Amino acid sequence: MAEKALEFDRVAQEVFAPIYPVIASRLLELAGVRKGRCLDIGCGGGHLGLAAARGFEGTLILLDANPYAVAIAEQRIPEEARGYIRALRGDVHALPLTDASVDLVLSRGAMWFWKKEASLKEIWRVLAPGGVAVLGGGYGTAQLKTAIYRHMSMRNQEDFGEQQEKRMRGARPEEYALVMERLGMGVPQCIHEDSGDWLLFHKSPEGTEGP
Ligand SMILES: C[S@@+](CC[C@H](N)C(=O)[O-])C[C@H]1O[C@@H](n2cnc3c(N)ncnc32)[C@H](O)[C@@H]1O
Repeated sequence: MAEKALEFDRVAQEVFAPIYPVIASRLLELAGVRKGRCLDIGCGGGHLGLAAARGFEGTLILLDANPYAVAIAEQRIPEEARGYIRALRGDVHALPLTDASVDLVLSRGAMWFWKKEASLKEIWRVLAPGGVAVLGGGYGTAQLKTAIYRHMSMRNQEDFGEQQEKRMRGARPEEYALVMERLGMGVPQCIHEDSGDWLLFHKSPEGTEGP
């Protein structure tokens, strides 16, 4: 677990670093929510959430199931931001947060590890009325994606694109959207961009729909 968290964070810093500010600003734009309480699920070293915090007014929780990732994210929180950003250990299938307490849920590169129905129900439970979730995977821009695929293929001595395809099999936005529709959880949007795929959903301001 420690080795996984350290290796992922090494790659995030050495290779993926330029994607986070680009993705953060795109996800904030897609979500249209810029204040309240933000939750980055499967935050790893916290790069995406911390980049999003620059365009978000309110509090941020960096959450990961791996305690070593949480420790890395914790260390990355700037001293002056510790009053409103915190790192928390937690599993998306049993979020350690109260109902209707989060305005914006973000997640990158983690949803293919999750059980669809259990994770969606939990995200739905913690979303506040009017809240939005954007979950998926991406690399910021098509150029960054190409450069990262090339770099990672050389680094790992295997076709990174093929590995990603395998990882994502069965966990694409459409597959999550089907589960949401079955559970009566609003009308999800599947967003496909050159650099990545996202599932976006809102909880209505009345907060009446849902499982
Ligand atoms: C590939 S990393 C992505 C990290 C980060 N979002 C990024 O883009 O840099 C996936 C992360 O999801 C976390 N994760 C996997 N399953 C999880 C779960 N059930 N609940 C919370 N976090 C989970 C892993 O521990 C890991 O840190």
